[in-house]
Amino acid sequence: MIEFIDVCKKYKGTTVIDGFNLKIEKGNIVALIGESGSGKTTLLKMINRLIKLSEGQILVNGTDIGTWDPIELRRKIGYVIQQHGLFPHMTIKENIQIIPQLLGKRGEFLEAKTKALLELVGLDPKIFIDRYPAQLSGGQQQRVGVARALITDPEIILMDEPFSALDPMTRSDLQDQLLNIQEEFNKTIVFVTHDMDEAIKLADKICILRNGKILQYDTPENILKHPNGEYVEQFIGKGKIWNNPALIKPIDAAIANPGTISKKRTVLQAMETMREKKIDGLLVVDKDKVLLGYVGLSKMKKIEHGQLTIEQVMSSDVPTIDENGTLIDVVDQFSNTQLGYLAIVDEEDRLKGLITRSSLLSLLGSQFIEKGDE
Ligand SMILES: Nc1ncnc2c1ncn2[C@@H]1O[C@H](COP(=O)(O)OP(=O)(O)O)[C@@H](O)[C@H]1O
Ligand SMILES: [Mg+2]
Repeated sequence: MIEFIDVCKKYKGTTVIDGFNLKIEKGNIVALIGESGSGKTTLLKMINRLIKLSEGQILVNGTDIGTWDPIELRRKIGYVIQQHGLFPHMTIKENIQIIPQLLGKRGEFLEAKTKALLELVGLDPKIFIDRYPAQLSGGQQQRVGVARALITDPEIILMDEPFSALDPMTRSDLQDQLLNIQEEFNKTIVFVTHDMDEAIKLADKICILRNGKILQYDTPENILKHPNGEYVEQFIGKGKIWNNPALIKPIDAAIANPGTISKKRTVLQAMETMREKKIDGLLVVDKDKVLLGYVGLSKMKKIEHGQLTIEQVMSSDVPTIDENGTLIDVVDQFSNTQLGYLAIVDEEDRLKGLITRSSLLSLLGSQFIEKGDE
């Protein structure tokens, strides 16, 4: 875990990072994002002590990095920068091995590892290992940069705009590779980007910065759904959530308070509730909100005996959707059937909400409506 505690950074009296507090969980990928000059690089370089703090502390796994041996720090924290930072007069192998060499590591093991890492980042060692950086494309050089950062098995990898100079195809490919590496080795990765799409794709959590302060630190999903203020909203771009429909959950399309009733109530009571709420159906739930069935108004009108219990008249095959499903599943369900409604349930079948055709339409329509017009 990486923890910033009341960190400040001043350059000649100008404060660029102010009272900064942030916790990065082990194994997470965190994106630092913000305009140029917002302090992203400064924050990253403070983690590996390339820049000194003016005030405060940074803890890694509970220990103040100020007390670490600098060499140990370099070994535990890999660093990838935008223009890869490869030494032009060294071969790919020499570039990758530079830190282990400095640490006095040599031999067969290091050779084997260098080759394995080149393969991991998608470069054939037979072709590339003895080449010079200038003989590689930008994307290939950046792959070498990633391999170099991994050679010491660091727990933490810091990346400063690692993919921003690459063409879209190469960038997307390297992003996928990073996700694979993260999945396989469970590294803690902190990366700087100015690309919100990249942050959404890669990060477990996104930290939005402005003038050295945090505007919002949350999951991509929460940031897209609940941007903290106008600046964040503008920064992430209007309607961005619609580029990422998998982040929209069934509950986002639900009506606020679906009518419910217990199975012991009577038909008369159900009709009264529906009249009062101006709705034409009720979901039947038990005291733990477990969904048992549905009663619709049209069916009740045919039943003379108002004293019958709900249990006797309800239909128990209610169409449901898992609360962890996506909007795409919701649309699928609706388009495959004639259903007018869909109950949202959790793993224990407890009722979480109700989607109707019209609540779904109003969510889908909201992407075309400016805030304030509603
Ligand atoms: N060595 C330095 N001396 C003075 N000011 C600096 C120095 N390095 C960075 N800054 C200032 O600190 C602020 C944050 O810079 P930086 O961390 O590089 O931002 P970002 O990476 O978000 O673009 C900027 O206003 C920048 O001008
Ligand atoms: Mg920067």
